[in-house]
Amino acid sequence: MKISIVGAGHVGLATGIGLVILGHEVIFVDINDNVVKAIESAKPPFHEEGLEDAMERHRGKYLVERNLQNAVASSEITFITVDTPSDDSGSVDLRNLAEASSQIGRALKNLERYHTIVVKSTVPPGTTEGFVKIILENTSGKKAFIDFGLAMNPEFLREGSALRDFLSPDRIVIGANDERTREILEQLYRNISSPKLVVDIETDEMIKYASNAFLAMKISFANEIGNLCKKLGIDSWKVLEGVGLDHRIGPYLLKSGLGWGGPCLPKDVRTLIRQFKQNGEEPLILEAVYKVNKEQAYKLVQLLKKYVSNLKGRKIGVLGLTYKPGVDDVKESIAYDIIKKLIDEGAHVIAHDPLGVQKFKSMYPDVSKIIEFAEVPEDVLKKTEIIVIATEWPQYEELDYSGKIIVDGRRVKKAEKTAAHYEGLCW
Ligand code: UDX
Repeated sequence: MKISIVGAGHVGLATGIGLVILGHEVIFVDINDNVVKAIESAKPPFHEEGLEDAMERHRGKYLVERNLQNAVASSEITFITVDTPSDDSGSVDLRNLAEASSQIGRALKNLERYHTIVVKSTVPPGTTEGFVKIILENTSGKKAFIDFGLAMNPEFLREGSALRDFLSPDRIVIGANDERTREILEQLYRNISSPKLVVDIETDEMIKYASNAFLAMKISFANEIGNLCKKLGIDSWKVLEGVGLDHRIGPYLLKSGLGWGGPCLPKDVRTLIRQFKQNGEEPLILEAVYKVNKEQAYKLVQLLKKYVSNLKGRKIGVLGLTYKPGVDDVKESIAYDIIKKLIDEGAHVIAHDPLGVQKFKSMYPDVSKIIEFAEVPEDVLKKTEIIVIATEWPQYEELDYSGKIIVDGRRVKKAEKTAAHYEGLCW
C-alpha cells in the first residue's frame, strides 16, 4: 500500500520505516528542513536503535516531501503522527494536529480516489471524531466514513526499541467506526501476527491513555514500596522480583528508583488527570502516581545530604541526563529535576551523558549555562568525590568508584560493590 506519514518524529519515522519493512511504500512529510534533509540522506535525526541501518537498507522504498498535499495525493492512507504536547495542566496543544488536518482536508478536496486518514498521535478521547473530523470535513467539503476513511491507531512504541516494538507489538489496536476502514487497516498490518483488537475510535483513544497511565502506576507503585523498604533496610529489588513472579503482575516496570520521565508517560498522565477533573471525577490513583514520581528526585537529594549537609559551593557529579539509557532524549528527564535542586542549593554540578548533552543544552538552557559538562564519565569521577547516578547507562558499570560517595537512583552494580560510601535510593 502507499502511505504518507505526517510528522517524521520518533513515532512517525519508526512507524514509516516499519511499514516499509512490511512491504509498503512510504512518503514522509515534515515541516522541519533538518528532518527532511536527514531522511533524504537516510539518517534518522535522533538516536534510535536499528533505525539508521534499516533506513540505509531500504533506501529508495521511502521518500520525503515538504508538501503535505502532494504526499496525500500520491498515497492511499495518511497517518498523522505529529506532536501533541501537553502543558503542566495537562491541556493538550492540538495546533500541529489542526494544521495537518486542514492541509490533508485541502488535498482530499481534489482527490478522486478513496483515502483513509489515521490518527496515531496521542489525543484525548473525542478528538478524532470531533476536532479532526470537523477540520477534515470543512476543508475538504466531503463526509467522513462515506467519502473518506477516518481511524485511530495508537502507537505503543518505546524509544530505544521503537522499530522492534512496531514489528512485533503485544497488540495492534484499530480504532475504526466502519467496516471499510477496519478492513483497510487489517490489510495494512496483515504481515504482523500479533493480536489485533478492533474497537471504536474513542475507545482506542482511551486505550492509549489508560495503558500509559497503568505503566506509570506500576513504576510509582514499585517506588512507593521501594521507599518503605529503604527505611526498613530491605532490598526492594528483591521484594519486587518476588512480586513480579506472579504472572498476573509480571516482572516489567517494577524497578524501583528515580521513576519515570520521557516524552510520553508524564504528559499522558497529566492529560488523563485533567480529563477526570473536566468530567467531575477525582483522579485519586493518578494524582498519587504523579506525586510519588515527582518526590523521588527530592528523596535522592535528601539522601545525598546525609553525606554533604550543606551543598553550597560543593562540587557534585551527575552521571546520566537522558530519561532512560539507550536514547538521546532528555524530555522530562528526572536528571533535570535533580540538577535544578542541586544548583538551587548552591552546588556546582558536573554532569555527563553519552548521548544526551546536546539535547539537554538546548532543552534546558537555564541550568546548562551554570553547570559543567564532562566529555567522559571518568572526568566526573576525577573532579569530585560525590556523585549522583541519574541514568543507568551500561558504561557506568565500567567505572572505578573506589573512594567515592555514590548516591544511586538507578542501581549501578559496580558502584554498589566498590564505592567507599554507597546509598541506593530504594535499596
Ligand atoms: C513509554 C511506553 O512504554 C510506551 O508504550 C509508550 O508508547 C510511550 O511511553 P518510553 O517513554 O520510551 O515508552 O519509555 P519506557 O521504557 O516505558 O520507560 C519510561 C520511564 O520509566 C523511563 O524514565 C525509565 O527510566 C522508567 N522506568 C522504567 C523505571 O523507573 N522503572 C522501570 O522498571 C522501568
